[in-house]
Amino acid sequence: MSEQAATPEPAELQRIDTFETIDTSVPHSARIWNYWLGGKDNHPVDRAAGDAYTDVFPGIVTIARGSRAFLARNVTYLVAEAGIRQFLDVGTGLPSADNTHQVAQRLAPETRIVHVDNDPLVLAHARALLRSTPEGATAYIEADAQDTGRILEAAARTLDLARPTALILSNILGHVATHERARSIVAELMGALPSGSYLSVNDGSAGIDPVFERAQNAYNESGAVPYNLRTVEEITAYFDGLELLDPGVVSVPLWRPDGTGPEPRVIGEHGGLARKP
Ligand SMILES: C[S@@+](CC[C@H](N)C(=O)[O-])C[C@H]1O[C@@H](n2cnc3c(N)ncnc32)[C@H](O)[C@@H]1O
Repeated sequence: MSEQAATPEPAELQRIDTFETIDTSVPHSARIWNYWLGGKDNHPVDRAAGDAYTDVFPGIVTIARGSRAFLARNVTYLVAEAGIRQFLDVGTGLPSADNTHQVAQRLAPETRIVHVDNDPLVLAHARALLRSTPEGATAYIEADAQDTGRILEAAARTLDLARPTALILSNILGHVATHERARSIVAELMGALPSGSYLSVNDGSAGIDPVFERAQNAYNESGAVPYNLRTVEEITAYFDGLELLDPGVVSVPLWRPDGTGPEPRVIGEHGGLARKP
């Protein structure tokens, strides 16, 4: 990796699965999420779906912002305290404030980051995700998270996967239809990473707020790609075989609060950070 870091490559863009068209007639997770985060990369159909959701459950905006703040605190810990210099961020989403590579490279400019998403609109905005420091590197892979083998193969062009790497899965595992498949995706990706690697997961949680669950059920029936809330036990199961850092799997505002994001209280979004022994 020191050799790679000495000669930074140009930013890379790889298309594994090609999702040709940007369909603006159906609401899309990345664009609705962008709307809730206060971004501008969304269409009327996304804003309508986002508003229909907040009419039932306004707390989704706190969940979206709280999970971005959790992600930034995880990345900060990983770079500043755990010495991680490589990230694989699957289900990256549209560029927003404090993307993984921005937080990481601000602290350690030599950090290398691979972003993966399957939404063609995210691909269209990939330029912002590829803006790397000269000392580090960024890449964007258009792929379905289920294609773990091909994602790892493509990521290996930018990352040295023999070295500790942090896998970021922020609000994507809920899009995988079954918990069993979501668990196997985590296991396949983490299985390819060496000891000293990390897993950061946060996801919408079931069993916390019935109004949230009602809004989510209505959203899932709207024609958008469904997002399945998972119980705290199911989210915790993603970390099986890994060493969970304190305070374990908790509601995201309660994960090492530092004044960023919403006030520390339980909301329907849980996450944790763990090290591979
Ligand atoms: C709710 S957004 C989360 C974005 C960002 N990670 C965050 O936490 O702010 C979910 C993202 O996952 C992407 N996604 C959903 N299913 C996917 C799949 N099967 N493969 C790759 N990306 C997927 C969507 O396109 C979207 O960008």
